[in-house]
Amino acid sequence: MLVVLVPNAPHQDLIITPPKGGLALQGRVKIPGDKSISHRALMLGAIASGTTTIEGLLLGEDPRSTAECFRVMGAQISPLNSHSVTVEGIGLGNLQEPPDLLNAGNSGTTMRLMLGLLASQPERFFVVTGDDSLRSRPMSRVIKPLHQMGAQIYGRQGNSLAPLAVQGQSLQGIHYQSPIASAQVKSCILLAGLAAEGETTVTEPSLSRDHSERMLKAFGAKLTVDPQQCSVTITGQTGGLTGQKVIVPGDISSAAFWLVAAAIVPDSELVIENVGVNPTRTGILEALALMGADIQRENERLVTGEPVADLRVRHSALKGCTIGGDLIPRLIDEIPILAVAATYARGTTVIEDAAELRVKESDRLAVTASQLNRMGANITERPDGLEIRGETPLTGASVDSYTDHRIAMSLAIAALTAPTPTTIHRAEAAAISYPNFIETLEQVCSGSV
Ligand code: S3P
Repeated sequence: MLVVLVPNAPHQDLIITPPKGGLALQGRVKIPGDKSISHRALMLGAIASGTTTIEGLLLGEDPRSTAECFRVMGAQISPLNSHSVTVEGIGLGNLQEPPDLLNAGNSGTTMRLMLGLLASQPERFFVVTGDDSLRSRPMSRVIKPLHQMGAQIYGRQGNSLAPLAVQGQSLQGIHYQSPIASAQVKSCILLAGLAAEGETTVTEPSLSRDHSERMLKAFGAKLTVDPQQCSVTITGQTGGLTGQKVIVPGDISSAAFWLVAAAIVPDSELVIENVGVNPTRTGILEALALMGADIQRENERLVTGEPVADLRVRHSALKGCTIGGDLIPRLIDEIPILAVAATYARGTTVIEDAAELRVKESDRLAVTASQLNRMGANITERPDGLEIRGETPLTGASVDSYTDHRIAMSLAIAALTAPTPTTIHRAEAAAISYPNFIETLEQVCSGSV
């Protein structure tokens, strides 16, 4: 297997040339830290009092954006590494007014969660921006509820697009019925609720990832969860948060690439170590099980409030299935790689209720369908999903990540079984959430993991 990264200024192409005579993936894979938990550990550490230590932080570009924003606002965050990062918190109401723009880069989580904190800093003014992709993503979903709490936030196109200007205010608690199951929306409102007067409740149509709830509780917030109603209540102004030790588990969204790789490449068996298996994130395991994948959990344990396991996956024949409803928020980031698995499944796989994918780092429904179809897949876009007719063996092609990290990595896994080389344009995007993806890909393919 030949995996080569070639400069194609200002981007990089990844060329994957499969070996003659087949490939079997064997060994144990270590994955980087969870992106969602990494963001939250940095943010809560910054607004807590005292020291937070973070082990296993993701060193991707997204958490780097979060760290940089909070450094500019006064938190002392040691140089980022995956062993131990310390954050000297400055206390909830003490974020300093930055002299320049806060840049969230490509990271929706940075921008949306941070807005909840900025909105509640009276007498301070902030301007938040991001890259081309982030400046085109909808921010009204957090700005509307923040306005209801009394926030002053202004942006392009009727206060919906960044750059956004925030004049910090004292906020009031609200009960917000979110029209979408989004952890970014929920977490933004909860973070605003920390400093607001009274109680703030967020109710979602179905449960999104609950890392904020778990970590806020661990840092000392007064928070109650009603899982039956998909509802969380935080009490504001209760004396602030206290720094903690956070051990970040591996990201199941990064593990998903190896789960699918081993499932579709004949004679493969991989163990993916230290994977976060929080039930609000394990939709990918349920979806792959429905498709007939052979995945076992080993060594299950709880690590600083988050469930963790090693995952053993073996190649198996896959079959099509229908994925929708409450499962979607629990595998929201895994749909592009699930689509790759579906091209190897016998029969039709239907993904529905997933219109949210159109407003991710790229329009992931359009890009997944168009790029996998270039490789020989038979995928039809639906307004809210995909219809994937399998089994369609994929062939090498020239494809594009559209600067979306999860698309870049999904296409690289799709290329593993193609008989001819695949070139993935703008493949450097993988570093947003998985900085050593290409290195690990080489190791997994050469049997040296
Ligand atoms: C995230 C929530 C999800 C997910 C994103 C990370 C988070 O976004 O897609 O990658 O850390 O809260 P939405 O809340 O928009 O669904």
